[in-house]
Amino acid sequence: MSVQTSPQPADVTPAPAPFLDVRDLRVHFPTEDGLVKSVDGVSFTLEKGRTLGIVGESGSGKSVTSLALLGLHKGTRAQVSGEIWLEGKELVALPETEMRALRGRTVSMIFQDPLSALHPFFTVGAQIAEAYRVHHKVSKKEARDRAVEMLKRVGIPQPERRVRDYPHQFSGGMRQRAMIAMSLVCDPALLIADEPTTALDVTVQAQILDLIRDLQEEFGSAVVIITHDLGVVSDIADDILVMYGGRRIEYGTTRDVLKQPQHPYTWGLLQSMPHLTGDVGERLDPIPGTPPSLINLPAGCAFHPRCAYKGWVHEGRCTVDRPELRPVSGTGRHIAACHLTDEAKHEIRDGVRKGA
Ligand SMILES: Nc1ncnc2c1ncn2[C@@H]1O[C@H](COP(=O)(O)OP(=O)(O)O)[C@@H](O)[C@H]1O
Ligand code: SF4
Ligand SMILES: [Mg+2]
Repeated sequence: MSVQTSPQPADVTPAPAPFLDVRDLRVHFPTEDGLVKSVDGVSFTLEKGRTLGIVGESGSGKSVTSLALLGLHKGTRAQVSGEIWLEGKELVALPETEMRALRGRTVSMIFQDPLSALHPFFTVGAQIAEAYRVHHKVSKKEARDRAVEMLKRVGIPQPERRVRDYPHQFSGGMRQRAMIAMSLVCDPALLIADEPTTALDVTVQAQILDLIRDLQEEFGSAVVIITHDLGVVSDIADDILVMYGGRRIEYGTTRDVLKQPQHPYTWGLLQSMPHLTGDVGERLDPIPGTPPSLINLPAGCAFHPRCAYKGWVHEGRCTVDRPELRPVSGTGRHIAACHLTDEAKHEIRDGVRKGA
């Protein structure tokens, strides 16, 4: 097994390695039009029993990141670099055969659209049982019993009967529950949920999020929830990572990011959910314009063509200098990449509050 160490002074005990440690992850796709840099230098950590929300507009690289965590770019044209350490194993360099042994068992995924993940010709029960049998030497009967138990755990009524149903006999919410049952059947240590509620109506969304939270408490797994909607993760996530154009632009505890958002893009995302923003977000403009090209990101701050506040920064710096991720003063590990000074941010927020 590879060992994850960095040089330490002799008298310092190294901190235990995080359960999941993603370092400088890059996923680039060569295309006829040029190199698409879908993920470009993303880092984060996650412990067991904790939830990370990865948030950004469509096309910001969230799904490509989650596929990398599952090793699903292996054998494709994608160029993946950086490191993904999971329980002391590095996944980027791991051969596909070894990755296959982890997939579904140690790392598992709930997809946005259960219909594309569930096969229409097999019963829901058979598919959950098969997902179990891939990793466990058990009889068909035992696997089926496990499928019934999982359906029960995710709140499907009459699981002994429903286990024989086909996916189309389930409602959208029930299918998503079945999908969750399938992804949890092997008790994975890391669960990735990519837009798990986007296709569902609001009431069912809330039920599914509650379910993920309850199951996480029960199973103690680490969870990554990916969404374009900050509202989805505001209650459930411990940390929030905001992505723009394949890069991190803000990262911190949910509390810090929601209470003191530092980046104009995050302000824009918050704008769509005024109940969360208190007096800060309600009058900020929503984000105008469209997401950037991932082949040619704008120079300087990639957000500058859409940013209403670049005039607050000296000498057109936003269009020339790319802002580094800097620690936010007075916080633990909250970081953000924006040239605005703390004073400017306060002034902008005060101005917004006063209706300026
Ligand atoms: N196989 C691929 N080849 C080329 N470009 C891709 C490929 N997969 C994804 N992309 C591009 O990467 C960008 C990020 O995609 P994705 O991670 O799916 O975004 P989202 O944040 O909406 O989940 C998109 O612009 C998408 O077109
Ligand atoms: S660096 Fe400049 S353009 Fe980018 S978000 Fe901050 S103010 Fe806006
Ligand atoms: Mg996506």
